[in-house]
Amino acid sequence: MENIIEVTSLEKVFGKKQALQDVSFQVKKGETFGFLGPSGSGKTTTIKILTGQMKQTSGTANVFGMPAAKLNTPEYRKRFGVVTDNSGLYTRLSIYDNLKLYADLYDVPLQRITEGLEAVNLKEEQKTLVSKLSKGMIQRVLLARTLLHQPELLFLDEPTSALDPANSKHIHRGLKELNRQGTTIFLTTHNMEEADHICNQVAFLNKGVVQLLDEPKQLKKQYREDLIEIELKDGTTLELPLKASSAEEIQQYISREMVERIYTKEPTLGDIFVEVTGRELV
Ligand SMILES: Nc1ncnc2c1ncn2[C@@H]1O[C@H](COP(=O)(O)OP(=O)(O)OP(=O)(O)O)[C@@H](O)[C@H]1O
Ligand SMILES: [Mg+2]
Repeated sequence: MENIIEVTSLEKVFGKKQALQDVSFQVKKGETFGFLGPSGSGKTTTIKILTGQMKQTSGTANVFGMPAAKLNTPEYRKRFGVVTDNSGLYTRLSIYDNLKLYADLYDVPLQRITEGLEAVNLKEEQKTLVSKLSKGMIQRVLLARTLLHQPELLFLDEPTSALDPANSKHIHRGLKELNRQGTTIFLTTHNMEEADHICNQVAFLNKGVVQLLDEPKQLKKQYREDLIEIELKDGTTLELPLKASSAEEIQQYISREMVERIYTKEPTLGDIFVEVTGRELV
């Protein structure tokens, strides 16, 4: 499958601060790629380089087979969308009017505005002035705006960081549908559940380096500790190896009717991140 993003030995230095040290990864067409890392690990910096808003110190970042710096030209601007928090919305205009300006700019039929508003659950509020919106609502307007021109590639910098669980879920469904229709999605997040739920490929960024890159499913399989957890009725929880040697002990608990619940333990992506990087994802 064709690579839509190719990053090799990417380095970014701000004065004395090394934001990216040696970052390499590829994103294939059609993927939803999660770029995960704690605060300050270089996620936004990577998106800025990939969308031509910032130049790297060294290394290559190619998008659509071109150096990413070219993305910031009219020829390529239509092919991708980017949602970061530097919004560029007109605060004195309504949600609808903001989207209309953008639709006119990109020659998009107005019908798509309604579809975009529905996708982010904001149809009812379309007449509200942007100055009156919460952070989460602004995040949703930005997403709707990006969807208007149906980009092939979408960059989302923490798309649900300001959203409540219901709206996050709504956006996740929307992103899955968009991906199903063929849009490649590159998103950053520190929300491991989000990544697990919508990404088919994740990269763990830590201290300016990609420490792990794989499918969430594979990672969970690889890092699964073969353990059985037994919750007893008295509230205690036991962990036993998933081996024949545990059978007798488990049977004892069962025959004495002490067991509330038994299950095999599966690590979350968050557990794996901590194990691989030695850092919490905050
Ligand atoms: N314009 C800049 N000038 C100087 N340092 C910068 C600049 N932009 C980012 N940095 C530094 O580079 C590092 C990476 O920042 P970046 O914003 O990419 O992190 P992030 O992973 O997006 O974090 P967060 O999850 O908090 O958004 C940080 O140490 C930050 O202070
Ligand atoms: Mg950031």
